[in-house]
Amino acid sequence: MHRKKRIVKKKKKINSKNTDRKILEEVIRVDHAGEYGATRIYDGQIAIFGKNSKIGKTIQHMADQEKEHIEKFNELILEHRVRPTALLPVWNFAGFALGATTAIMGEKAAMACTVAVEKVIGEHYQQQQNLIKHDYKELKKTIKKFEKDELEHHDIGIEHDAENAPGYSIMTKVIEFGCKTAIAISKKI
Ligand SMILES: [Fe+2]
Ligand SMILES: [Fe+2]
Repeated sequence: MHRKKRIVKKKKKINSKNTDRKILEEVIRVDHAGEYGATRIYDGQIAIFGKNSKIGKTIQHMADQEKEHIEKFNELILEHRVRPTALLPVWNFAGFALGATTAIMGEKAAMACTVAVEKVIGEHYQQQQNLIKHDYKELKKTIKKFEKDELEHHDIGIEHDAENAPGYSIMTKVIEFGCKTAIAISKKI
């Protein structure tokens, strides 16, 4: 008699209730790198505009929030024993250079830089909230709060006429591409 063999596939049980350690490390490493880069961009812009100018004060408000963000990720990187990206010196220089260059191009260009950067970071934070499970509730809350701040920065850029910067479309595309590349690299290296 022909007996049907039941093939029991052993599926690897993935515990979806817990955050994968590798993912946790990537999230904290890349966010730490991104917040560090963001503080350097605004440093570069304030260096050109001066913090007492009208635009300088607006940028300072965002820079203060970035300072809170990087301080939080400085804590998290120690608390969770995550190796920071080896590329901090690169983001230090590249962030400042991007901020200073766009500021030299003018107020609208500086704000276009903010729109591009904050759009990418905001979207990135939104995606990360699906990767972090309830075992890291506090981290999830932190990322949600920071996402809100970054979108506020994005909107400040729009309100300050970023879209009328010369070459807005190409400039924001280039900056967005740069940010996405930096994110991909900083997760791993
Ligand atoms: Fe930030
Ligand atoms: Fe921001």
